[in-house]
Amino acid sequence: MLTVAVLISGTGSNLRALLDAAADPEYPAQIVVVGADREAEGFAHAEEYGIPAFMVPWAQFGSREEWGAELGRQLAVWRPDLVVLSGLMRLLPAPLVDEWSPRIINTHPAYLPEFPGAHGVRDALAADVEQTGASVIIVDNGVDSGPILAQERVPVLPGDDEHSLHDRIKPVERRLLIDVVRRIANGELDLEAAASAGAVAASTAADGD
Ligand code: GAR
Repeated sequence: MLTVAVLISGTGSNLRALLDAAADPEYPAQIVVVGADREAEGFAHAEEYGIPAFMVPWAQFGSREEWGAELGRQLAVWRPDLVVLSGLMRLLPAPLVDEWSPRIINTHPAYLPEFPGAHGVRDALAADVEQTGASVIIVDNGVDSGPILAQERVPVLPGDDEHSLHDRIKPVERRLLIDVVRRIANGELDLEAAASAGAVAASTAADGD
């Protein structure tokens, strides 16, 4: 059974979907702890499922490094096999990423490398594209730049606003996340291999520049 820590900042709808999936005894992963950088609404899902939770309040730390060090200490208590960033709206400091990568993944509401960053949905709308998407990636030290594990296109419809488009993307994100975690747990998806392949692809692309 793969043990998973999920880190959130907001409503935790992707967390909820993962908790629901993991409630199936056939699902090969188990969420052992939920963490957040603030008093997140999504804690309610953890509570409902009786999953322990911790908070490392961003506002109480003087720097990203100090905040990240405390987050690292909390994760070390639980020693999960995998960390899932599911709407955590903070960049992690490099030492924490280096410690966990490639066993740390992130969901993003755009078809990466298109529209990275904190406003993936808003930026897609502003660019007036006909389709955007959802992605699950390995976290590296860039902004949403890690190796892509799964992604799918989502159409932008006439009249969409940020809310309606995000609402159409989220179910796709949930499905991708549940499937990626399942494949990691089953050994079908090897994160070390995916990270190495991603590094090779990135250096090949850089050579071609
Ligand atoms: C999700 O769409 C996630 O991809 C996004 O925040 C949302 C959280 O929703 N994350 C990012 O944009 C990170 N760059 P949730 O709290 O309802 O799961």
